[in-house]
Amino acid sequence: MQRIPPSRIRKLRTLSHCNEPAVFKAEGKPDEATNLIDLASNDYLGLSRHPTVIQAVKETIVVDGVGAGSSRLITGSRPIHKSLEEALAQWLNRERVLLFPSGFQANLAAVLSLTQRQTPVLADRLIHHSLLMGVKTSGAQLKRFAHNDLNDLEIKLKQALEKHPNQHPLVMTESLFSMEGTSPSLEAMANLCQLHKARLLVDEAHALGVMGSKGRGLGYGIKDPLIMITGTFGKAFGSGGAFIATNKEIGEQIIQSSGAFRYTTALAPPLAAAALAALKLIKLNPNWGIELYHQGEHWRSQLEAQGWLRPPGYGPILSLVVGSDEKALELQNHLEKAGLLSMAIRPPTVPEGTARLRIVLHKTLPTSTLEKLLDALRGR
Ligand SMILES: Cc1ncc(COP(=O)(O)O)c(C=O)c1O
Repeated sequence: MQRIPPSRIRKLRTLSHCNEPAVFKAEGKPDEATNLIDLASNDYLGLSRHPTVIQAVKETIVVDGVGAGSSRLITGSRPIHKSLEEALAQWLNRERVLLFPSGFQANLAAVLSLTQRQTPVLADRLIHHSLLMGVKTSGAQLKRFAHNDLNDLEIKLKQALEKHPNQHPLVMTESLFSMEGTSPSLEAMANLCQLHKARLLVDEAHALGVMGSKGRGLGYGIKDPLIMITGTFGKAFGSGGAFIATNKEIGEQIIQSSGAFRYTTALAPPLAAAALAALKLIKLNPNWGIELYHQGEHWRSQLEAQGWLRPPGYGPILSLVVGSDEKALELQNHLEKAGLLSMAIRPPTVPEGTARLRIVLHKTLPTSTLEKLLDALRGR
């Protein structure tokens, strides 16, 4: 790793206002993690503490132990891994699903499996860091297009093809941007990719379980050129670990050649069991995403009625952009005094001058939460 001078580390600390990661103590119930109502975590469906999920973890620990003990290709594969991969593949209607210990790692593997040095990659300007690291590692030719802007994407696609006429560019986006709450028009993006012989990779980390038909993400039902999606169990699924869903051929290529898949300890079996239990619950409750959508619309309208800019998008992430870092922090502290946990998001996580309060909806919120929030925000 490149050595960073102490003065730069001090500067980064000031920029991110972070000395050490904050520690939140959990005492059994979702609302008690901080004695504050949780409007901050990505546990959208409250599955991290769902009794069925916890029970599945307990049963699997007894049978399979805590850790897998080695990589998938040595002795780390368990029946629970296969069951989860097959269940996800069927649910998402994709030929092959492969599990990874984290979404960061799945994204690295995804980009590396689809690019080489000369591949033009067009990424949304606000794409997740892990996908950018994938491009950096592969050495591919990165260009960024303006956030969710299909006109800009088309211009950049044409430029890329002029420069590299024999290549199939890779376009990368997310289906729900975690700091904005926004989503691209994936159908239109896929059509554009088709027109320009590009392939599309979509990170569904925040949408899976809560958006798209029956929670199956916004890429569900879109086939070629959407050749791969990535998802993580760390958000709506309430646990940890991740996956790539793709076609048979690319799946086989990843198994045979991806270091990020081959040379890492397999996803801990209890986490695989948690994800499978969460998946079963999501399948049994196809209305959960729709309920969150209606809740989100109601919250957006109420915030707008109070004079805030309507938070964009239609998912469970509501972003109140306030501009200055101080204002965002002040709002966070003020809400905390009112019993609500919502995080101020500041540069470098978001662009300079766009600090914001990130309000995250959960299925399990007490009914009085919106009133509390509006009371606390009144006059601010
Ligand atoms: C869009 C997006 N992709 C990937 C990741 C990484 O997922 P994981 O937390 O499983 O490493 C995250 C979250 O941290 C994310 O927000």
